[in-house]
Amino acid sequence: MVAAIIGGTGIYALDDMKLHRETVKTPYGDVNIERTDQLVFINRHAPDHSVPPHNVNYRAHIKALSQLGVSRICATFAVGSINPEFDLAVPVILNDFIDFSSGRKHTFFETLKDAKGHVDMSVPFCPSLSTALKTEAAKQNLTIRSGGVYASTNGPRFETPAEIRSYRAAGADVVGMTLCPELPLAKEAGMSYAGFAYSINWGAGMTPNIELHTENIDDIKAKMLAVMIGALRNTNDDQCQAAPIL
Ligand code: HPA
Repeated sequence: MVAAIIGGTGIYALDDMKLHRETVKTPYGDVNIERTDQLVFINRHAPDHSVPPHNVNYRAHIKALSQLGVSRICATFAVGSINPEFDLAVPVILNDFIDFSSGRKHTFFETLKDAKGHVDMSVPFCPSLSTALKTEAAKQNLTIRSGGVYASTNGPRFETPAEIRSYRAAGADVVGMTLCPELPLAKEAGMSYAGFAYSINWGAGMTPNIELHTENIDDIKAKMLAVMIGALRNTNDDQCQAAPIL
């Protein structure tokens, strides 16, 4: 059973793990990964942070993980808080999302040849993996928030105040640029997915300008990584069901 971590901004593999680098060839392009026998790491924006959210090759990433036999993914996202109750720097275990992105390669299903192309998104985030994240966070003294809705935008620009008000009115708690199409593609590939969003700013219009607070979050990032590794170790494929494709 192979599991994966997709790290967002600033999340890289633990230094003390013996990882080897590999390039995985996929029909959508080559993907550089780091791995042990059971755990694969991808940094979404590349290790040198050179790939902006709209240019991430999401299909290649998920296809590469699928080719490596990955069935469970934990991922992290830097986000902005748009619900005043969602404090900055407190990781949120996500439980739903709204997709406001457009123009991205967002599906593996290019034809309806097999009459299968509609993945059920009734349970977007894996409950077993999410519970394991919560349990592991408590064990490792990481303060988290359980449950939150992610509004996924295109970027790379930040939102306008009116956009943030409309996302909030629609029920979103945080806003970010990368959950979609990563999660839907993983579900299309039959994988389970759980995610931590950590907020580095208040959404546009909630402060006079966007102010990024990236100082003092190294400790939280390291803990999120350790919590994800623990959660993946303590779950298995039987607990994490793939979503039906209709
Ligand atoms: N909006 C969108 N994406 C983000 C933000 C934001 O305010 N902060 C971090 N990623």
